[in-house]
Amino acid sequence: MTKTPTGKNTSGRGQRDLRVRVKTAKGRKLSSTLWLERQLNDPYVIRAKKEGYRGRAAYKILELDEKFHFLVNGARVVDLGCAPGGWCQVAVKRVNALGEKSGKKIGTVLGVDLQEIAPIAGADLHQLDFLEDGADEKVKGWLGGRADVVMSDMAAAASGNQQVDHLRIITLCEHAAYFAFDVLEEGGTFVAKVLAGGAEQGLMGVLKKNFEKVVNVKPPSSRKDSSEKFVVAQGFRGKRHEEGLQAPDAE
Ligand SMILES: C[S@@+](CC[C@H](N)C(=O)[O-])C[C@H]1O[C@@H](n2cnc3c(N)ncnc32)[C@H](O)[C@@H]1O
Repeated sequence: MTKTPTGKNTSGRGQRDLRVRVKTAKGRKLSSTLWLERQLNDPYVIRAKKEGYRGRAAYKILELDEKFHFLVNGARVVDLGCAPGGWCQVAVKRVNALGEKSGKKIGTVLGVDLQEIAPIAGADLHQLDFLEDGADEKVKGWLGGRADVVMSDMAAAASGNQQVDHLRIITLCEHAAYFAFDVLEEGGTFVAKVLAGGAEQGLMGVLKKNFEKVVNVKPPSSRKDSSEKFVVAQGFRGKRHEEGLQAPDAE
């Protein structure tokens, strides 16, 4: 017997099809109907609603942290591309940003996104385009010191062209990485979303020079049909802007 992410047991035998079906409606495209049907039947969407997370993305950072243990009590975390806020909600709890775990160190969570983000207790949230000129200096100002974790789930809206989407996400990821080189404490962690597609190899090379351990992971909650994966780089060596490395230009 296996357990679904919603905690139900399934034997696989004699099961009724319990999927929610969405009828096509006038004015709604078939792609929207299929998206809605997938959302309504997605066990992580159902679980996020039940557990009070703002989206299924929360489970990606939870699963990555279960494996790599970077969101520890007292950690200072920067979350780039944080809206609607699932990763921040997880980080606030795990780093003890509200001081709820008595006797444990209190951490901080700073989140930024292009979009407005509804307040989250324990997180300092700012609306900002991370690609605009001077964005990294603004974030450094809000941070006011070093960080232990820089994580980025930034993704531009899908263009419909896989290669364009891949290159856009790599650009966002490179900006996040160079920001991390500037602010991370020695030993710190960088986590970022990438899309498989080839151009990430250059970035992986730079990360390998700057961190002791760099791995690519696809957490179970990341949809199987998506080329999304995450790079987790741990043990920052403390070198900032190594010779020969150029910070990426803004688009
Ligand atoms: C997949 S969502 C992040 C979900 C988030 N991790 C959560 O748990 O709720 C990707 C986010 O990246 C943001 N984003 C894309 N480009 C950005 C940019 N240039 N600067 C800041 N945020 C950006 C988008 O606005 C979007 O909210």
